[in-house]
Amino acid sequence: MKKKIINKYMKFPTALAAAKGGAALAVEWLVPLLDANGKDDALLLAAADKKRAETVGDSVHLRGLIEFSNYCRKNCHYCGLRKENNKINRYRLSKEEILETALKAEKLGYKTIVLQSGEDLHFSADAMSKIIKELKNKTKLAVTLSLGERDEETYFAWKKAGADRYLLRIETTDPVIFKKIHPDSDLEYRKNCLYVLKKLGYQLGSGVMVGLPGQDALSLAKDIIWLNNLGVEMIGIGPFLPHKETPLKDEKGGTLAQALRLIAVLRLVFPYSHMPATTAMGTIDPMGREKALQAGANVMMPNITPTAVRPLYEIYPNKICLDESADKCFGCVTARIIGLGRTVGTDYGDVVRQIRNPKLEIRNNKDK
Ligand code: 5AD
Ligand code: SF4
Ligand code: FES
Repeated sequence: MKKKIINKYMKFPTALAAAKGGAALAVEWLVPLLDANGKDDALLLAAADKKRAETVGDSVHLRGLIEFSNYCRKNCHYCGLRKENNKINRYRLSKEEILETALKAEKLGYKTIVLQSGEDLHFSADAMSKIIKELKNKTKLAVTLSLGERDEETYFAWKKAGADRYLLRIETTDPVIFKKIHPDSDLEYRKNCLYVLKKLGYQLGSGVMVGLPGQDALSLAKDIIWLNNLGVEMIGIGPFLPHKETPLKDEKGGTLAQALRLIAVLRLVFPYSHMPATTAMGTIDPMGREKALQAGANVMMPNITPTAVRPLYEIYPNKICLDESADKCFGCVTARIIGLGRTVGTDYGDVVRQIRNPKLEIRNNKDK
């Protein structure tokens, strides 16, 4: 006897209605949204844009990104900064250079800077704390860190020094994919880093890459459910872009359409979250960031790294803005935002706090 195949997924209109109505998260409606195409796709993005306008409004928050070190102890299979890539020159900005860049950003009008680097232990708990303290003393900037996996003591020290927010993408919650692309990371350890950051009171950002080998809509749907349980407040999404000096160089990579659909679903699921129109979106399509801003995104992160070292922070190929100064990018994104009929955020753009799921089990987070 032939077995009847039961499609457990909802039809698109029912799925969209579930999302708009704030239904409990379930793969049954997340998957058909993530797989939407044609007219359905357009309906999804429009619904997300409408939701964004109703919840976080028209203002787009700017975060100045300082990529201060491209040293990394890890070997993620997708990333151009991986330790075994000996084709790139490595650099570190000094504390003075970081401060000078931040002061310039504040003068330009930024309210937030993001300090990002590879996992560079040269910037120890103490060294980083000094930088954070000085930044908080000399500026009014909100300070966001994006420095990868560290132990609880270190995260605690940085919070105490005055750091406000932390970004750590989970990249994927699929244990098989995660293991394949992270030879020296452990999914459970990384999850625990996020639980610890949440516990310590950071405004918390995470996110995933779209288009990883082996990833499908069901896998992304499960990522969304996990991010919800975490109580994430900022979500960074970007297409995976293969880099020629990495083991994943021959993979296909993600598309703009996939990334836009994910942003749209995320806006419906996390109505008040902060979501950047990422540089990776601008790299894959010259209008990619605008399209993201019209599919649910409400943040932009212009690069303010000194131009001399910008080309060396090549996590993926053909990154935009390599020759542009901080002033030029500030002007450029401002014009793009205004061009969409939106406004540039004038406040700190703090997150709307999400209460941590009391069921999260936090383990002792000792560095490996
Ligand atoms: N393509 C797209 N995004 C990438 N990242 C790292 N390598 C790539 C790549 N090849 C992203 C990861 C990381 C963030 C800083 O950059 O999601 O968390
Ligand atoms: Fe290092 Fe981050 Fe790149 Fe992994 S993704 S190699 S941790 S910079
Ligand atoms: Fe850098 Fe447009 S954001 S030039």
